[in-house]
Amino acid sequence: MQPQPELTDLLQMAYSAEKAAAFAYIGHAGSLKNEEVKKAVNQIETDEWNHRREVLAIMNEYNVPVSKWYELRFHVIGRTIGASCYVIGWFMPIYFAGRLESGNVCEYIRMKDYFNKAGITKHDKILYEMGIKEREHEDYFLSLIKDSRLMFFFEKVFGWGKSESFNQVNVADKNKDLNTINSNSTGCKL
Ligand SMILES: [Fe+2]
Ligand SMILES: [Fe+2]
Repeated sequence: MQPQPELTDLLQMAYSAEKAAAFAYIGHAGSLKNEEVKKAVNQIETDEWNHRREVLAIMNEYNVPVSKWYELRFHVIGRTIGASCYVIGWFMPIYFAGRLESGNVCEYIRMKDYFNKAGITKHDKILYEMGIKEREHEDYFLSLIKDSRLMFFFEKVFGWGKSESFNQVNVADKNKDLNTINSNSTGCKL
């Protein structure tokens, strides 16, 4: 099967964006003083490297090449964000990490839906799991900043926060029957 162009692009972008995320979390963890949070961010970095491996395995199965352009672009983005964590204070790296994770949830659910459209369901479990993992990351970052006085302002301007998310995925649905997962329950439209 030749993946749809949209799916090819989603896979290539996710593969490279996971590297950007991992790089960013290296800088983020390095800039943190709280040991407990540092440990959690290190774990999130590991999760992103795992995602990158999983995405590559799927790409290889369909002969989807790694995009050199995305690799370069996200390398620079990841390193830039990672370095900026040392200078912009504690709130913003956490806020934008949470906001980014929120968007990533649907990327994986959309991949699943594109595969399903082509009649392929064997990646459902891993793609849904990765989506849920991103939601766990989102929830974690939100938990760190939800009581900050800056939250109200950032949510108004950047459209993510306590009452706004880019998906409707609920971590409590982790073990839900995959047949009941659809765009109504996830908020992820193709
Ligand atoms: Fe990820
Ligand atoms: Fe993540």
